[in-house]
Amino acid sequence: MVELALPKNSKVGEGKTWPKPEGAANVREFRIYRWSPDDDENPRVDTYYVDMDDCGPMVLDALLWIKNKVDPTLTLRRSCREGICGSCAMNIDGTNTLACTRGMDEIDGSVKVYPLPHMPVVKDLVPDLTVPYAQLSSIQPWLQTVSPEPAKEWRQSHEDRAKLDGLYECILCFCCQTSCPSYWWNGERYLGPAVLLQAYRWLIDSRDEATGERLDNLEDPFRLYRCHTIMNCAQACPKGLNPAKAIAEIKKMMVERRV
Ligand code: SF4
Ligand code: SF4
Ligand code: FES
Repeated sequence: MVELALPKNSKVGEGKTWPKPEGAANVREFRIYRWSPDDDENPRVDTYYVDMDDCGPMVLDALLWIKNKVDPTLTLRRSCREGICGSCAMNIDGTNTLACTRGMDEIDGSVKVYPLPHMPVVKDLVPDLTVPYAQLSSIQPWLQTVSPEPAKEWRQSHEDRAKLDGLYECILCFCCQTSCPSYWWNGERYLGPAVLLQAYRWLIDSRDEATGERLDNLEDPFRLYRCHTIMNCAQACPKGLNPAKAIAEIKKMMVERRV
C-alpha cells in the first residue's frame, strides 16, 4: 500500500485555551487558527473568550478586542473597517468574507476563524497574496490608449460608464479567488475570478484601446478557460459581484472576435 508522508506542519492541532474575562456576564467563544513561521510548531486552533458587553458587533471588533486585551501576538490584516479596503478577508464560520462586515449575530455557536483557504500563510490569519497580485499585474489593470491625449480628460457616455457597474466595486479582497475550486488546483496558471473580473472591467471600458492585446493575453488553455461555472465565486463575494458572469462575457468576446 502507498504510504503518503504529509509535510511536517500539515496537521492542525488543538492549541491553548485562554482565560475567560473576569466578571463578564455575556461571553462569546472564538476558535482561531494560529501559525507562526518563527517557531517550529504545527498550526493550532486557540480558544478565546470575548466580553460581548465590552466589544463592537463585528467579527473584526472581536479579533481586535482579543489582540488588544488578551493576546497581542494574534496577527491579522485590516485597515478601513468599512468593507472598502479588502484587507480583512478571511474564512469565518466556513465562509470567505470580510471580518469588518460580518456581524457576530449572523453566526451560531463559537466563531471559527481561519485564513483564506488554499493560500500559503504568512502568519496566523494573513495569507500570502504574492501570486494573485502578480496575476493582477499581468492583465495590466490600467487605461491603455493610442489616441492623442485629450486636453482635459478621457470622456465617456453615461451608457458606457454604466457598463462598469458590477465591476468597479471590486475591492480585491480575493474571497472569490480563494473559494474557486479551479483556482485551488491550478492557481499558478488559472488567473482566477478576481483577476478575470478585473480583466473584463478593462476590456469593456469604452475609453480603453488595447482590447485586442488584452484578449490575446487571455487566449490560453489555463489563464481563462479553467472556469467551469461552479459559481462559488459569486456566492463568496462580500460586495455582491458576479465574477463568473464577467468570465462568461470574456469567453463571448473571444468567440465574437473569431467570427
Ligand atoms: S464560476 Fe469559475 S471562477 Fe467562479 S468559482 Fe466557479 S470555476 Fe471558479
Ligand atoms: S469580485 Fe468580490 S470577492 Fe472577488 S475580489 Fe472582488 S470584491 Fe472580493
Ligand atoms: S478592514 Fe477594510 S474591508 Fe475590512
